Amino acid sequence: MSDPSPDNLQLTGTGRLRNFIGIEGLPRHILEEILDTAASFVDVGDRAIKKVPLLRGKTVFNLFFEPSTRTRTTFELAAKRLSADVLNMDIARSSTSKGESLMDMLRNLEAMSADMFIVRHGDSGAADYIARHATPDVAIINAGDGRHAHPTQAMLDMYTIRHYKGGFAGLKVAIIGDILHSRVARSQIRALTLLGAEEVRVVAPRTLLPADIESMGAIVCTRLEDGLRDADVVIALRLQKERMDSALLPSESEFFRLYGLTSERLLATHPDAIVMHPGPINRGVEIASEVADGERSVILHQVTFGIAVRMAVMSMCMSGRETERDDSQTQGRSNATTR
Ligand code: CP
Repeated sequence: MSDPSPDNLQLTGTGRLRNFIGIEGLPRHILEEILDTAASFVDVGDRAIKKVPLLRGKTVFNLFFEPSTRTRTTFELAAKRLSADVLNMDIARSSTSKGESLMDMLRNLEAMSADMFIVRHGDSGAADYIARHATPDVAIINAGDGRHAHPTQAMLDMYTIRHYKGGFAGLKVAIIGDILHSRVARSQIRALTLLGAEEVRVVAPRTLLPADIESMGAIVCTRLEDGLRDADVVIALRLQKERMDSALLPSESEFFRLYGLTSERLLATHPDAIVMHPGPINRGVEIASEVADGERSVILHQVTFGIAVRMAVMSMCMSGRETERDDSQTQGRSNATTR
């Protein structure tokens, strides 16, 4: 796959969202627009008829080449709440198992008048690659690519933080665990920095930190007590054993002894600190059950907010594209009359 570099693939000529590949390259006001738009959708889930018509007549394909519980189902629910037709491709049972290439599969879905591909893939840069090679008529949303980015997860995390903390100014956020393999951490750090958090701390042993972490604006803490001190928001991350190809840790129990989030350790944080986790959780590895299920945990609220945030991203991409089409038709008519 090509090196991920989303730049203006994500924005129309007038600066509106058209694809959502990563946080990098986006201006702060787009992130704020996603949060504000999501706020307008949150109550749709409480209505008797949980639907708005914004994507009526649109066709959305969920293309998950890696397993998922939360992201796939909340994208499906989000699309359905926007009144789109949604198809969940069963990749393992698709003709990719007979040797069909990714691009040939996409060409066939494009021929079915697809409007949007939601893509999760194990390769960093997969969503970027598809956005560059698929027909420009289809919106591409990254649902997690390798270690690179998981931008809708980061935005639902930002929504949750803003909901509980009122904003980002003055906030100290500690992200704890397997930063090295985490696309979520990369997207969170970029979003928190752009939205104005005071401190973004990453807390992990050196073996689980990427080499470029400080250049992203994060403060590195290799001792958990340093990372937790006075933190307003604590985000635990899963140890991604499936992406570890060498012995980066002595053992899971040793990791929990040094970095596991327990009630006792949370005493070092701000008294109103919230605890987050993108899921899936490894109980007793990065977080104790008493914390995951405790009164400071907002983990399940993150999942609920994820539906509204994904509705926001999908509807913004579609309306950005509609405006782009209208603008180009107006430009075409104006060129024709001045000829
Ligand atoms: N947070 C997250 O991406 O979870 P899933 O892998 O279950 O989608």
